[in-house]
Amino acid sequence: MRKNSKILSIALATSLILGGLSVPVFAQQPTTAQQQILKEPLDNKVINQIDVDNIYNTIDYLQQTPRVASTPEEYAAVQFIEEQFESYGYEAEVQEFEYFGYTAPHTVELTTNGISLDPRAFTYTPSGDVQAPLEYVGLATEEELEGKDLNDKIALIQRGSNSFTEKVINAAEKGAVGVIIFNNTDGVINGTLGTTDVRYVPAVSITQAQGNDLVTKLNNGETVTVSLKVLGASAGLRSSHNVIASKKPTNKKKDNGNVITVTSHHDSVPGAPGANDNASGTAMVLELARVFKNLPTDTEIRFITFGAEELGLIGSRHYVANLPQAELDRIAANFNLDMVGSRDAGDLVVNTVDGQPNLVTELTQASSLRLNGEPTRLGRSGSSDHVPFAEAGIPAALFIHSPLEPWYHTPQDTIDKISKEKLEDVAQIVSTAVYDYARFDNQTPKQPQNSNKQQFPAQMYFEESIQ
Ligand code: BES
Ligand code: ZN
Repeated sequence: MRKNSKILSIALATSLILGGLSVPVFAQQPTTAQQQILKEPLDNKVINQIDVDNIYNTIDYLQQTPRVASTPEEYAAVQFIEEQFESYGYEAEVQEFEYFGYTAPHTVELTTNGISLDPRAFTYTPSGDVQAPLEYVGLATEEELEGKDLNDKIALIQRGSNSFTEKVINAAEKGAVGVIIFNNTDGVINGTLGTTDVRYVPAVSITQAQGNDLVTKLNNGETVTVSLKVLGASAGLRSSHNVIASKKPTNKKKDNGNVITVTSHHDSVPGAPGANDNASGTAMVLELARVFKNLPTDTEIRFITFGAEELGLIGSRHYVANLPQAELDRIAANFNLDMVGSRDAGDLVVNTVDGQPNLVTELTQASSLRLNGEPTRLGRSGSSDHVPFAEAGIPAALFIHSPLEPWYHTPQDTIDKISKEKLEDVAQIVSTAVYDYARFDNQTPKQPQNSNKQQFPAQMYFEESIQ
C-alpha cells in the first residue's frame, strides 16, 4: 500500500519556502536517502498525471466479455486498444501472428445403455458421433492389445501407466471408433492429448466410480451399448494480434538508443471476464501510454499488449522471435503487468524468471522505496509475457499480487473485485521506475562523489512467490 512518504522527508530534511516552492535543504552533501527526496519532484511529473479512474473504466469496458484468443471478442479488444492508443496521439501497429490452435467441442455427450454420464472431452479430441458396443481393454498398452480386434467397438480404458495419447492411438489402431478413459483416483480428469493426430478417434473421460461400474457390467457378461457425441471440436491455423505503440525519444540529439517495453496480455481464458487477468494490466499499459505521450524522454518507451498469452505466451514469443538481434539489443528492460488490481490478492511482488534482481527490479525497488517507504518484494515466477524477453537476455519482470485471488481464471474475475487503491499503487511505482530510466539524464540530481548507489540487499527482500 502507498505509505505517506512525507514522514521520510520530515525526518531527513528541513524545508525552505521559496516563492511557494518547498525545497529540501541539507546541511552537507546529501546522503543517498536524501537524494531520493530530491528525486520526488521528478516522480510527481508522472504521478500527478495518472488518473486511476481511466484505468478502472477501461477494465470495466474490457471485462464485459471473455476475450479468448482468436475469437471476435479478442479482436474487438485489439481494435479498442488500437483506438485508445491513437486517441492519445500514437500510431498503433496491429501485429498479426498465426499459430496452430484447437477449439474445444461445444457438445460432449455419452450414454451407456441409454443412461447419460457427464464425460469430459480430452483437449485435442476430434469431433465424432458414434454408436458401438463397449469393450474393456485395461490400460490399453501395446502388449494388452496384442491380437485384439476392436473394429466397430468403443474402448473402455483405465488411466495410468501409459499416456492418454498412447491409449487413444493404440485403441484406434486396433479399429476402435471411440475411447472412454476412466480415472484411477477420485475426481474428474482434465486431460489433454498434447497435440492433434490424424490417428485419433473421439476420446472422453469419466470418473473412477463410473468406469468401475461399467467394468463390472462387462465382466458379468452384459452387453453395454455406447453412444458418444463430440461436436464442434476443430484444430487448425488460427490468427491473433499484438498491439504496439511507441513513444519515441523527444529529440534525436538526446536519443540514447535504448528501449523500455511496458507490456500486458489482453486475452483471457474461456468463461472468465478477465477483469484482473488481464484487463487490469492492459488498462494500465494504456494509461501509462497516455501519461508518457508528452513527457520528454531520451529513451523510447514501447507499449505493447499481447494476444494468446493464455495459450502459452504465443503473442509475446512471436514478438520477441521476430525482432532482429540488433533490435533486441536495444531493449533495456521489460515491465510486464499481469493481474495488477485484485482487491482479494496479496501484496505487489516484482517477479523475475530466475528470482534474481535485474534493472527492472532495481528501478522498481528504488521507486517504491521513494514513494511508499519500502521496496516492492522480489520474487520468482514464469507463466507470463516477461518470459520470452528474459529468455532473450533482456532484464524483465512480472508485476503481480501474491498470493493470487480465488477468482483467478474463473467467471468471478469481474470488475467488482478490482481495487482502485491497488491499481494506483502499481501505476505509480511502475511509471516512476520507467521515468527514472527514460527521462533526460540531466534531470537526475547528480550523485555525489564516492556515494554508493542505493543498494537493496537482494536476499532481504526476496521471497519466492507462492502461486
Ligand atoms: N495472469 C497469469 C499470470 C500468472 C503468473 C498467474 C504466475 C499465476 C502465476 C497468466 O495469464 C496465466 O494464467 N498464465 C498461465 C501460464 C501460461 C504460460 C499459459 C498459468 O499460470 O497457468
Ligand atoms: Zn491467466
